[in-house]
Amino acid sequence: MIYADYNATTPLGEKAKDWMAQALELWGNPSSSHRYGRKASELLNKSRESVAELLGVNPNDIVFTSGGSEANTLALMGLALEVGPGFRLLTSLVEHSSIRDTLPLIEKLGGIIQHVAVNSEGQLSLVDLEKQIETFKPHLVSLMTANNETGVIFPIPQILQLCEAHACLLHTDAVQGLGKLDPTFYRNAHLVSISAHKIYGPKGVGALIIKKGVSLVATHYGGAQEIKRRGGTENVVGIAGFGGAAREWQETHGSQDLKKVRDYFETFIGGSLDGVSIQGEKEPRIPNTSNFRFQGIASEVLLGALDLEGIFISAGSACSSGSISPSHVLLGMGFSESEAKECVRFSWGQMSGLNTVEEVAKKVIAHVTRIRARNTLKALSK
Ligand SMILES: Cc1ncc(COP(=O)(O)O)c(C=O)c1O
Repeated sequence: MIYADYNATTPLGEKAKDWMAQALELWGNPSSSHRYGRKASELLNKSRESVAELLGVNPNDIVFTSGGSEANTLALMGLALEVGPGFRLLTSLVEHSSIRDTLPLIEKLGGIIQHVAVNSEGQLSLVDLEKQIETFKPHLVSLMTANNETGVIFPIPQILQLCEAHACLLHTDAVQGLGKLDPTFYRNAHLVSISAHKIYGPKGVGALIIKKGVSLVATHYGGAQEIKRRGGTENVVGIAGFGGAAREWQETHGSQDLKKVRDYFETFIGGSLDGVSIQGEKEPRIPNTSNFRFQGIASEVLLGALDLEGIFISAGSACSSGSISPSHVLLGMGFSESEAKECVRFSWGQMSGLNTVEEVAKKVIAHVTRIRARNTLKALSK
């Protein structure tokens, strides 16, 4: 089996498991003032500090959520509710579906949304962005740190400068940036979304980092947890897993050169097949992601062939796989529906070495060649 879908999720790391096992024993409610509660609360604090240390942010700025999706929703809805009708949001067409699907709700609340365009490589223009900020005067700009499908990185430090110059807030969905980019690149945004399961932590836990001075309305109620920014008894086991994963990541960080692995894979395929393009190739990308288009090959056919070989990749984002609609990210980059349906994503991680990616590359080349030959024969026999 070869797993090449690390942008969808990662396996649970050892420290995450250890810390979760501790949390299973400490079953008290962290809000209780007795000893059981205090023990759970201590583990919660230790986990918060561990995540804060990984990012270099203040532990008090961290609001734990049920994942990156909730963190995104909280950032957008929380601010829309804070500002009220007339709230103006500037975002892009290639954001994660948790941003996209929150937009109709914001409009229902009387918010106004504008999109900044990206080019065919998935990159935005800072000049266009500045013009839009000047004319639209958004309360909030929400732009992702790195795209989950193409890996393309938006220039967050420059975007933050623009936002600060025009007195608007910046939210960045850094779910795919965490563990792949130096945190200084994205952590200074006013609001930052992260998720545990992209760094070998458990699924179902993430955080929104809310910088001091930024106020938003909570979207979950039930108690004063997370300094009243997210009510409800904390998911102590999940949060402990996030803490453990963050600690392990800090200790092992940088030990694997995924760019070398990814570049080797891309060169291997590019050198053997025609009719191939790599989305975002000319732009800065996170080091583990390749989004390939194999002309003439429907992505689900290639996915199915590789699956039978025990090689696991994805077409578009995991959240939208299973649906036959083409990726909104690729459509946002100007691809036609049929072009978008020919794209697949390989994303590498802990268990990907040069031998692994070479094996995958050879299988991909063999299947693409076979499927193309079959398609030609079919066309000739018509
Ligand atoms: C860029 C991005 N944002 C948000 C999310 C959602 O995170 P979660 O799965 O923790 O809800 C994902 C998940 O794939 C993602 O890639």
